[in-house]
Amino acid sequence: MGNLLEEIKKRRTFGIVSHPDAGKTTLTEKLLLFGGAIQVAGAVKSNKIKKTTVSDFMEIEKQRGISVATSVMAFNYKDVKVNILDTPGHKDFAEDTFRTLTAVDSVIVVIDVAKGVEEQTEKLVKVCRMRDTPIIVFINKLDREGKDGFDLLDEIEEKLGLKVLPMSWPVGMGQRFKGVYNIFEKELNLFMPHSKQDIPEEVIAITDLSDKILDEQVGEELANELREEAEILHEVYPKFSKEAYRKGEISPVFFGSAINNFGVKELLECFIDIAPDPMPRETEERMVEPTEPKFTGFVFKIHANIDPRHRDRIAFMRICSGTFKRNTNYYHVRQEKKMKFSNPTSFMASKKEIVEEAYPGDVVGLYDSGNFKIGDSMTEGEKLHFKGLPSFSPEIFRFVDNKDPMKYKQFQKGINQLMDEGVAQLFIREMDGRRIIGVVGALQFEVIQYRMEKEYTARVAYEQTNFRKACWVTCDNPAELKTFRQRRSRDLAKDKDGNLCFMAESDWMLRMAQENHPEVKFHFTSEFG
Ligand code: G4P
Repeated sequence: MGNLLEEIKKRRTFGIVSHPDAGKTTLTEKLLLFGGAIQVAGAVKSNKIKKTTVSDFMEIEKQRGISVATSVMAFNYKDVKVNILDTPGHKDFAEDTFRTLTAVDSVIVVIDVAKGVEEQTEKLVKVCRMRDTPIIVFINKLDREGKDGFDLLDEIEEKLGLKVLPMSWPVGMGQRFKGVYNIFEKELNLFMPHSKQDIPEEVIAITDLSDKILDEQVGEELANELREEAEILHEVYPKFSKEAYRKGEISPVFFGSAINNFGVKELLECFIDIAPDPMPRETEERMVEPTEPKFTGFVFKIHANIDPRHRDRIAFMRICSGTFKRNTNYYHVRQEKKMKFSNPTSFMASKKEIVEEAYPGDVVGLYDSGNFKIGDSMTEGEKLHFKGLPSFSPEIFRFVDNKDPMKYKQFQKGINQLMDEGVAQLFIREMDGRRIIGVVGALQFEVIQYRMEKEYTARVAYEQTNFRKACWVTCDNPAELKTFRQRRSRDLAKDKDGNLCFMAESDWMLRMAQENHPEVKFHFTSEFG
């Protein structure tokens, strides 16, 4: 038990979220370099999911292979074991990304100083806020011209709904960028482009901003700017409180330049210090504390091998409590059966290793021949169902039909397995039983088509729909629900678990339905009530 507690205290499991191109890969790589998990810059980068909007099947295949390797990147820094869960940034992988966010204890949000808060960041932060996940913000690319610091903070508060607290403040920007002033340590970190890993940043203690050293270092103009801005910062923003951060009430903000490895160490040090160790997890039955001696965990991601000769899949399981051990019988709650794993895998950067033991906060990869679905719980026998793995309302829909009547079985199996993996969501229309596939990004349709052919020898036919949004509906009044179902039968479908969904053709239609049926509740994730 003593050991378990120590292991838990040592762990920080988090995700980095950003809009594509803000610098997530670069920052991840710099963090891994600090942890000694990789030796050369470029190791993650060269593996990077290529940002392509063109559908290139080989590319999809390659990306899938890569994202297994970078699904979890673990490294040790000082005494802490850091687990970075990859949240794929490509627009078309958003659903996968949403789910990964349910397996982290905190996140770092990367924002491009020039672009400010972008669309995907908004979506991802919304998911984090649903669970009050603690958030640290890193504003990147200060070596380039960008938005004014205060404007950015306002934008973050407004668009992301975060209460921000700058921990550092930039001195100049772009051509004039001199460094950042660490408000709490009262230190000036001087910027040197392309500072290498082994060269420490030059740090000058300046306890009093009126000190002339500041002018000597950054010039009079910037020194005066900083003095003025520091005053505003002091007046406007609250004091840092670890507790408030951990409750998701305030978000510390750092400024830096990932590519120049500037501000990254500062971020990491602060992260190690303040980010939460593995937190309790909610199940439908009760709260599970990480310190409970009995093992529990849940599957948040499944990766299938695209090669039809190797049908195995990897299920990624987050450990929530107790110690997970290799070759030990555990209970698969949904299937009500015992299973043991001879080759559970851990991921240290891109290296895979068989693990003997894993602790809360860790992620293990389990080789699976089709036993797992996203959201499955494993325990030592207790019937627990972990919460926080909802399906999110997709926004692009197509009817899907089996093209080859001789292959109906393969078609059905393929569709079901791909849905289990969380590639997309399947809805069955009430009126006529037609299958509708809903995705977050359009590329998924091609992935499904391709994989159905390659892996299941089934061919799919798509047909456009006018649906724009699916939301789950409930109603406490059975009579009202009946009326709603009768009036709206054209727009109703069931999801994979038989829950009723309203398929709206536009926001306006959705609003009308809400207004006309005030007793009916519309939910935007599948987890409600
Ligand atoms: P992502 O994972 O969030 O999509 O972003 P990624 O790290 O790939 O960074 C996107 C681009 O921004 C890359 O340039 C990267 O080099 C650059 N970048 C990252 N951090 C900084 C920074 O602090 N300052 C500046 N000026 N640029 C930064 P690219 O041209 O798309 O790729 P590459 O050719 O450099 O590899």
